[in-house]
Amino acid sequence: MSDLKIYPPSAEFVARANVKGMDAYRELYDRARQDPPKFWSELASQELAWFRPFAQTLEWDPPNAKWFTGGKINACYNCVDRHAASERKTKPAIIWEGEPGDQRIITYEELQRLVSRFATILRQLGYKTGDRAVIYMPMIPEAVIAMLACARLGIPHSVVFGGFSAEALKARIQDLDAWVVITADGGWRRGKEVRLKDAVDEALLECPDVRNVIVYRRTGSAIPRKEGRDLWWHEQDEQFSGAQLVQMAETCPAEELDSEHPLFVLYTSGTTGKPKGILHTTAGYLLQTSMTMKWVFDLQEDDVFWCTADVGWVTGHSYVVYGPLTAGASVVMYEGAPDYPAFDRFWQIVEKYKVTVFYTSPTAIRALIRQGDKWPEAHDLSSLRLLGSVGEPINPAAWEWFHRVIGKGRCPIADTWWQTETGAIMIAPMPGVVPLKPGSATLPLPGIIPDIVDTRGVPVGDNREGFLIIREPWPSMVRTIWGDPKRFEEQYWSRVPGAYFTGDAARRDENGYIWVLGRVDDVMNVSGHRLSTMEIESALVHHPAVAEAAVVGKPHEITGQAVCAFVTLKKGDWDHTALGKELRQWVAHEIGPFARPEEIRFTDALPKTRSGKIMRRLLREIIASNGVTGDVTTLEDLTVVTALASQHDDD
Ligand code: WT7
Repeated sequence: MSDLKIYPPSAEFVARANVKGMDAYRELYDRARQDPPKFWSELASQELAWFRPFAQTLEWDPPNAKWFTGGKINACYNCVDRHAASERKTKPAIIWEGEPGDQRIITYEELQRLVSRFATILRQLGYKTGDRAVIYMPMIPEAVIAMLACARLGIPHSVVFGGFSAEALKARIQDLDAWVVITADGGWRRGKEVRLKDAVDEALLECPDVRNVIVYRRTGSAIPRKEGRDLWWHEQDEQFSGAQLVQMAETCPAEELDSEHPLFVLYTSGTTGKPKGILHTTAGYLLQTSMTMKWVFDLQEDDVFWCTADVGWVTGHSYVVYGPLTAGASVVMYEGAPDYPAFDRFWQIVEKYKVTVFYTSPTAIRALIRQGDKWPEAHDLSSLRLLGSVGEPINPAAWEWFHRVIGKGRCPIADTWWQTETGAIMIAPMPGVVPLKPGSATLPLPGIIPDIVDTRGVPVGDNREGFLIIREPWPSMVRTIWGDPKRFEEQYWSRVPGAYFTGDAARRDENGYIWVLGRVDDVMNVSGHRLSTMEIESALVHHPAVAEAAVVGKPHEITGQAVCAFVTLKKGDWDHTALGKELRQWVAHEIGPFARPEEIRFTDALPKTRSGKIMRRLLREIIASNGVTGDVTTLEDLTVVTALASQHDDD
């Protein structure tokens, strides 16, 4: 890769960076590597506020890790109270921009009051430490307030992205056995209302254990209300009138919880049809999300940090809520879409709030490139000093554009590799130190020991492709799959004994830079969102017309990959055009609009091995090249492939 241009950090950036010079990085990395528990324990004592100090840094009984045992801590206290009690109390914690243009700026002091009031509401309704809550909200401050109020009481939450359907929501509520759902009447997206409460009502038809739905009024549209179960957030809040009640509500104490107390469960797609509930716990997660704010985003007191992710994804958990707030940052939060009302919405917000650090996805960048440079050029982006990218590999052309047109050549780009399971950023440049190569997430962060290995677990040499694994436990690692410890062990810890298997392929170059190449399993990456082929297949075969389905990712210029489904039908006289439309809609209804296949191909048969397994590799090749090059000797019936490959030319 020596022909690629290398970008060292600019002198201007280095001058004020937290960590500068390769020696500083090496020193930090080597110290962490020599004695990881010592390294992390020093940071944990310094960076976090403890009710009781921890006794032991790490209990590691692979695959089970316990970090900072014996300690008592609270995530909400760390994110809110300790800042509200400091000179940060009047500093904006959340700078919120609603889609229709409304705005709210909430200081740390105000956030403490709002969170305490909502925690008091939950407590008065009888919810307590260990009960579970599902949060299904638009991108409004109340989503963060609900998360933090749960954390304050020790109620693990599961945020379900507002784009998920009632079906998907139901499955998550049931798997978690949540008793309370926190939602809104709706949210705004591209000028239209997304009706969240309707989806909740549909989901709850099959969730008899849910006792309450607390509804925040956002759009003001009429919604049905189930007596005894459904409560308006504002009505609950109105009971706190008079100085004494207000005082009581606003001083709701933060529970003193164990370091390993479950903080949240976030469902993510795996290789089977059933999403996995990824469990994160308290102290280790807070430590690593906040440390990466300093290492990767070079966080400084006057930064205005904007991560464009929705709080329904892990990026939103770690870099809209827990990481930046633990670190005491000002966070920008935006309700709507990047292209509404016009293609300069992002740049307008950067200019309006003088955003200094801007973190987004390659898909968003590629979609905006297409609209031309005039949109960013119409805005003053001089407040920006650092850019970030996450969710999928960034292609060099998109990287260069981001660097040149948005960062004006001044701002380093942190390409950050991590996963729902890792909790925090794992591989990324420290921007004041590491010369950048477009398309590489560069070097591992301190305390992270990645390796690239072959199928037997043996390290491959430089510039060889292999499986990306992580060798040592890290504080923000996934603790288990909710309710399924066996799957946890099989999925992540059985491929290479003692090491964490990421499911990604990667290559390390002669400078030690890591190039993440993409998934090696049946997981697709569409717009930086993880989608399971099996999950979409099982949605499709639920449709009465479908006999069999096989789903593969197809290269896509903007979204990285797009969903393509091969479908065989039951006997009947089908109108393919109408049915194709219906099936796409069906998947949107079963999972969510973002999982809707871009293309449906009908076929008489699917290519299978002699043992009956669908050969997805072949289908991927057919889609990518309209031909097949690899070995097909195990294929049962070659005519199937020939028919599929030629189909494209016919339609
Ligand atoms: C998968 C994790 C964690 C943030 C959002 C996605 C891919 C993520 C990068 C990157 C190349 C990346 C990987 C990973 N991925 N970041 N910078 N370069 N690939 O979280 O849904 O858990 O997906 O996203 O394939 O395994 P997620």
